[in-house]
Amino acid sequence: MTELLPVLTETWDAPRSWRLSTYEKHGGYRGLKKALTMAPGDLVQAVKESGLRGRGGAGFPAGMKWGFLPPDDGGPRYLVVNADESEPGTCKDIPLMMASPQHLIEGVIITAYAIGCNHAFIYVRGEVLHVYRRLLEAVAEARRVGYVGTDILGSGFDLEITVHAGAGAYICGEETALLDSLEGLRGQPRLKPPFPAVAGLYARPTVVNNVETVASVPGIVARGVDWFTGMGTEKSTGHGLFSLSGHVTRPGQYEAPLGITLRELLDQAGGMRGGKPLKFWTPGGSSTPLFTAEHLDIPLDYESVGAAGSMLGTRALQLFDDTVCVVRAVSRWTDFYAHESCGKCTPCREGTYWLKQILHRIEAGEGQDQDIDLLLDLCDNILGRAFCALGDGATSPITSSIQYFREEYQAHIDGHGCPFDPSASALFP
Ligand code: NAI
Repeated sequence: MTELLPVLTETWDAPRSWRLSTYEKHGGYRGLKKALTMAPGDLVQAVKESGLRGRGGAGFPAGMKWGFLPPDDGGPRYLVVNADESEPGTCKDIPLMMASPQHLIEGVIITAYAIGCNHAFIYVRGEVLHVYRRLLEAVAEARRVGYVGTDILGSGFDLEITVHAGAGAYICGEETALLDSLEGLRGQPRLKPPFPAVAGLYARPTVVNNVETVASVPGIVARGVDWFTGMGTEKSTGHGLFSLSGHVTRPGQYEAPLGITLRELLDQAGGMRGGKPLKFWTPGGSSTPLFTAEHLDIPLDYESVGAAGSMLGTRALQLFDDTVCVVRAVSRWTDFYAHESCGKCTPCREGTYWLKQILHRIEAGEGQDQDIDLLLDLCDNILGRAFCALGDGATSPITSSIQYFREEYQAHIDGHGCPFDPSASALFP
């Protein structure tokens, strides 16, 4: 039985949890003070040994990414925090930055020190103005006590932090589109390689890490590598935020070691709303293949979720009961991907539009018998052929829903319309 374990969420319920004084009262900035006594290379090594993996969705080892930076050539190198959380269902970084922004700021300072960076950027979604303001104030508070600026705590280390608000495009969460956007260009993904570690912001070596990844660093430094590796599984170490939404009694953020199961999380969240049966769910946002009730006991770690045919992604667990039409849900997500496709590559630009048209006609009762296979064929032509992960992600809900609920698609075609009562479900009306 895996229990909940508040680390990043520990102070969220404290009065004025976002204040520096609250954070320090609960042990905040111990990590930074310790880090500044360490050699930067030792910090990189510690994060490598902790096994911390990128919490933005891809799960790439953070320490390894830091280690990819080329040797210092005397020029600038950058840290860019990806706070452009936009994946449908994903809602962990925004509450983290609202409730405990100093967790992120402390992580930024330690990470910047470890990689030899004197100017860090936090790129946040423009729509979340309240988060942008909170971050500006959090950086100002940290600056007032000497955690940001020149000669931090007498260490000789200098750091500027710039908080930048994007303009609300999903594609700008793709790390290279984010860098283009930060440079003032239209946000479109770049060809990789070169990876940002080699040529990132202004073509300089750059580490791009997600909010939760960076916020996890102070704990590793302050409490030690063994503390972190003592949680989770051998290859998916540490703690993570699990965001439960949809037809669940108590939706919200549940922090636990990686490897906890949805059944265990549901126990904590009061079960399915109204006691209705779970029909399908996403393990990590809408771009990860769907799971069903048969997957309730899959440990939510990178390896186990992958072996069961999906991805851990951002741990955005969206739960749907049996009142929800899967075709309708998938159609809404596909509308999103078609709208957010940046248009740079043909498979994604044309493919998502085409998928959307077919799903709309199936939903409207005008589907044809060959449409289900046509959807699969189109997905096959997008997967692995799009310029970035957006196109691949758009195919996941479609292929997985056909895998588990093909008969429901067929029922729309045979019955010339949706067999569900749209007013029965509050979701996807
Ligand atoms: P990726 O696997 O291509 O790369 C992951 C990270 O590792 C990147 O920072 C990349 O630069 C680095 N990397 C990989 N190979 C490298 C190498 N050989 N040398 C240097 N660095 C290397 O995944 P990507 O495209 O960055 O992210 C896709 C994921 O993003 C999806 O799996 C999805 O879960 C997640 N996502 C999250 C969203 C959110 O709102 N948080 C929105 C949409 C997608």
